[in-house]
Amino acid sequence: MNKDLISGFDLTPQDIAEIFRVTRTLKKKKYSAILNKKVIGLVFEKPSMRTRVSFEVGAHQLGARCLYLAPQDIKLGEREPIKDVARVLARYVDGIVARTFSHAYVEEFAELTDISVINGLSDMYHPCQALGDMYTIYERHGTCKGIKLAFVGDGNNVVHSLLAIAAKTGMHCTVATPKGYEPDASIWAQAADIAKLTGSRLTHTYDPREAVKGADYIYTDVWTSMGQEQQRKQRLRDFKSYQVNAALLKSVGKEYAIMHCMPVHRGEEITDEAMESPQSIVFDQAENRMHVQKAIMALLMGKRRPSKKAAKLKR
Ligand code: CP
Ligand code: NVA
Repeated sequence: MNKDLISGFDLTPQDIAEIFRVTRTLKKKKYSAILNKKVIGLVFEKPSMRTRVSFEVGAHQLGARCLYLAPQDIKLGEREPIKDVARVLARYVDGIVARTFSHAYVEEFAELTDISVINGLSDMYHPCQALGDMYTIYERHGTCKGIKLAFVGDGNNVVHSLLAIAAKTGMHCTVATPKGYEPDASIWAQAADIAKLTGSRLTHTYDPREAVKGADYIYTDVWTSMGQEQQRKQRLRDFKSYQVNAALLKSVGKEYAIMHCMPVHRGEEITDEAMESPQSIVFDQAENRMHVQKAIMALLMGKRRPSKKAAKLKR
């Protein structure tokens, strides 16, 4: 595995298989000393419940502790440049989980340090989410290959990492968005290139009914992501026919499960009825965030981790 987990594209199919294998073991065996006495810095520019708590509890179960650095503590890029924050932090802690607005900040942390950096969500990617989600699917079928996932909503950070992991695992993924909210074109092209090698089929449509037809999993996320609050009114208008609700779910035409990364804006991207239905597996997804992240931390920061020397500015 690479030193860092930044997008999902940085993992090979073998890395993903290894993460899933270790996840399975650590899900059964709650406590271990794999990260004994290590300290992991959580540098967060945005709010978080699942990511912060699952990293803190997961690290504790592996013998490490986390140090949560809230937006007001560090004031990334405002109080001092990222390149200074990264290099100082790397002398104190054994690993960093960064949740940032700008994706470039996560990349900078990774480039300038020789400790492992994990993206805990940026405006561009959310790899821990996608890995937790794919593990949730994997443990239900024993594989991701050939499973059909339909994502309905905004072509955002969560979709970008889902596309990366779907392409790498041979999963089929159809994304339905309104015009103007498609996934990033270069990320799509990158995923499509990988998909050709693994047999994954990636398709985009503007029609949510077409997307969900025959899908095994129907996935949605908020229409207004963190940092986009100013656009909320416009987005509510643009996305209104993309709600996951009883009418849309009728088009699936087979057994399916409903997924959401949470937090959920009930009544916007999904109805309360769909969220609370027996098909909803959202709490399994949320739980698996912790198990998968324990595996990621163990593999990146555990004893065997080779150190890849960073970086132009490291001294
Ligand atoms: N899904 C997720 O990342 O949740 P939080 O924003 O609460 O961490
Ligand atoms: N797309 C959402 C995901 C939250 C976990 C956001 O960035 O706010």
